[in-house]
Amino acid sequence: MFGLNVKEAIYAWYQKNGRHDLPWRQTNDAYKIYLSEIMLQQTQVKTVLERFYFPFLERFPTLQSVAVAPLDDVLKMWEGLGYYTRARNLHHTAITCNGVLPKRPEELGGLKGIGKSTAHAICAFAYHEALPILDANVKRVLCRYFALSVKDEKVLWEKAWELLHVKHPYEHNQAMMDIGAFVCTPKNPNCLACPLELTCKGKNAPENYPKTIKKAKVPTKKRFALVIKKEGKLGLVQRKERLLHGLWGFVQVDEKPKNAHSLGKVTHTYSHFKLELEMIYDKALHVKVDGYFTEDEIENLALSTVDKKIIQTLFSSK
Ligand code: ADE
Repeated sequence: MFGLNVKEAIYAWYQKNGRHDLPWRQTNDAYKIYLSEIMLQQTQVKTVLERFYFPFLERFPTLQSVAVAPLDDVLKMWEGLGYYTRARNLHHTAITCNGVLPKRPEELGGLKGIGKSTAHAICAFAYHEALPILDANVKRVLCRYFALSVKDEKVLWEKAWELLHVKHPYEHNQAMMDIGAFVCTPKNPNCLACPLELTCKGKNAPENYPKTIKKAKVPTKKRFALVIKKEGKLGLVQRKERLLHGLWGFVQVDEKPKNAHSLGKVTHTYSHFKLELEMIYDKALHVKVDGYFTEDEIENLALSTVDKKIIQTLFSSK
């Protein structure tokens, strides 16, 4: 009885307070839901909604259209969203499954970039399958509701199953995300507005669940970006390293080249470090690049955010 009540309370809360108008909640197209889940993994709803979701769907209305496109085109539409591995995995997955997503969660979970929670989200949201999800917000709600000090994956999955409203998995999962985002927030949770409040074991000390370890401040890396010019064009390389693979950008070096002069600095904060890039120009420097491009040509390439910042700085100071 106890259990049923909290499930019904979550369901009723969602009917009244849920964000029903989010576009990925207005469709049962598994591809559109999958795309939203991937974008939302590391990016806030507002950013996805205002700048990326619709333009991406305009260019790639189906998974089939992703499968037949060159990776560069997919990266171009992902430009600025960051964590580009997501875009490469999406492209890889589109090709692997021939433009049609499998329906079974185990099969979905075996595809590149789709973990168990994302597989469950796709099945719950597209097909109303009774499967729980477990993203960062939901984990916090569960830790507090069940008074769990440690975030143990196995325990959290058990609790997620226990709390799932099997008759309304769609609403239940969306509600858990909204409650995590707006009610059971990391700081100052609004317990009075929470549908789980009555039976919540952690409500008297929500800050203890889970126990958080203070994150160390991210270190700053100082590097140098070489501005290489030839006949009015800029020399760029196509990145090979894992995280930015396929994106175009300026050659970067660890040491400041002798006699070079500075064109200013740009910075960008990644998840594990802050990058401070000093832009350097030296006429005498000869460095191998992958291509030379005009300003207009660069517009059509996919660049990482920090390389875009360099372009903006260079062209705005002209
Ligand atoms: N984050 C991940 N999935 C989401 C969804 N369906 N709605 C809102 N935020 C989300």
